[in-house]
Amino acid sequence: MSVTQRPWWKDGVVYQIYPASFKDSNGDGIGDLNGIISELDYIRSIGVDVVWICPMYDSPQVDMGYDIRDYEDVYAPYGTVQDMERLIAETHSRGMKIILDLVINHTSDQHKWFLESRSAKDNPKRDWYIWRPARYVNGERKPPNNWVSNFTGSVWEWDEHTQEYYLHLFCPEQPDLNWENAETRQAIYKSAMEFWLERGVDGFRVDTVNMYSKGEMLDAPVTDPGSEWQFAGFQYCNGPRMKEFLAEMNQVLEKYDAMTVGECPNTPDMKRVLEYVSAKEKQLDMVFQFDVVDVGQGPYKFQTTPKNWTLPHLKRAIARTQHLIRTPSDGWTTVFLENHDQARSITRFTSDAPEHRVAGGKMLALLMAALSGTLFIYQGQEIGLVNFPETWDMSEYKDVDSSNYYKMVGARTGGDEEKLAEAKRALQHLARDHARVPMSWSTAPHNGFSPPDSTAMPWMRPLDDAATCNVAQQQSDKSSVLAFWKRILQVRKAHNDLLVHGQYDDLDVEDPEIFVFSKTWMGKRALCVCNFTDRAKTLEVPEQVRGEKMELLVSSVEGGVDGELAAYEGRIYLLA
Ligand code: NOJ
Repeated sequence: MSVTQRPWWKDGVVYQIYPASFKDSNGDGIGDLNGIISELDYIRSIGVDVVWICPMYDSPQVDMGYDIRDYEDVYAPYGTVQDMERLIAETHSRGMKIILDLVINHTSDQHKWFLESRSAKDNPKRDWYIWRPARYVNGERKPPNNWVSNFTGSVWEWDEHTQEYYLHLFCPEQPDLNWENAETRQAIYKSAMEFWLERGVDGFRVDTVNMYSKGEMLDAPVTDPGSEWQFAGFQYCNGPRMKEFLAEMNQVLEKYDAMTVGECPNTPDMKRVLEYVSAKEKQLDMVFQFDVVDVGQGPYKFQTTPKNWTLPHLKRAIARTQHLIRTPSDGWTTVFLENHDQARSITRFTSDAPEHRVAGGKMLALLMAALSGTLFIYQGQEIGLVNFPETWDMSEYKDVDSSNYYKMVGARTGGDEEKLAEAKRALQHLARDHARVPMSWSTAPHNGFSPPDSTAMPWMRPLDDAATCNVAQQQSDKSSVLAFWKRILQVRKAHNDLLVHGQYDDLDVEDPEIFVFSKTWMGKRALCVCNFTDRAKTLEVPEQVRGEKMELLVSSVEGGVDGELAAYEGRIYLLA
């Protein structure tokens, strides 16, 4: 593709906002749309082009807004549809785009469609959700299959009133919509998509995009013998009608020139991923693969120990996402290390020890900025926020995923204290809660998240370390993580051919301490090298580039030493 034909979303840097935890303008302890509007200049100042707002729709908040009661309304504590219209206009007036979360695999059980659907078997909307009769085993009522939900337990919920089960791949309060029904699909497009496209949004991050077509829903193989419920992600993801559904959805999106980035779990098959993102297939513009953020996770979420990964694991995962765009691919890829479902990347991939966290944050920023694809930053990542500490009690974990897991371990082990301590250690490392704490804006009360005179406590405990890590301080500190993000995004923009679009080649996959790769674009080349250890290391020039002239473009450490990388230092060189 010629440079002039590049769509805006390829070079754009996206900043993800979690409304509940970004900024509380009215002192009720919950972030809101006016809070977001008040910080748009800050977001712009980082070098961001696109703002992504996590679900701000009307919702009972069982899964933090991923359970939508009304697509056409806003969760009252966040604001109103008029506030959204203002947010859209204010974002555009600063030259940025805005995208929303599109959650259309399921609704809330309080959505009027589901209330109708569950009211009677002959209700016209009965078939808008997935209802099945029970199966009886030795006279005992059992769900239609053995699938485990993403949040533990069966995916089926018994409905006393109509004597059938309904499917929910997530919480029971998140019933799955029946995409097989054409009328349902049209209603989804109209209510969830067109309502907001008409109001000017520029695209969507599409939640669990590959789960709409469930296939035959046969029993999953037993991979967890201790449980009645089994992992079925490979069955309900990427089902037989996905292509057709996405093509249909695209007819709506195309009218508005809207971009899409689809969340694509359980898809290790790169051929399948490429089908989703290939330009000529017209399915999705890009996807979030799970390869990188799953590094160090166990076979079952949280069944692992902290830092249970090696650098070659991480490199291989990154390579898979980078190779998606290797010639002759006509696809596109994404770069991200954090989002609202992931713990903080400094803690996971470098070190959150006080003496290393700044270096770790800057090195990861440099690494990300050197990778090809659309770059996504999650709120707080730009100042180097880290996980909250082990000393925090289980009651500080508010996420349904974390608390269900902890409860499940308790139930399965008869409350074994050692197993519960192990589960808490895993959560301290990997829980989604770490991304969901209030943003640390300053050292003011509530870390500046809520107004100083606010009496309501923030909905989650603010971090204890705001004195050493907050936006206000970093804005005036040239050596801060924030200052480095600003700088590295400028470097990325100035060298976008190489850094955003270039071909990625890992130059030493097996090195467990140094990550070194090259980027190539039409005869231009760059070398990126990152020291993933907490010690200085000799800078070994990889043999593939030995003899070439290396001009230092940027380092994540000031006053770096020739021939040596400091602990957690990253560098980009231009080669000639
Ligand atoms: C993925 C979202 O990112 C996550 O937060 C949510 O819990 C599930 N999908 C269900 O919508």
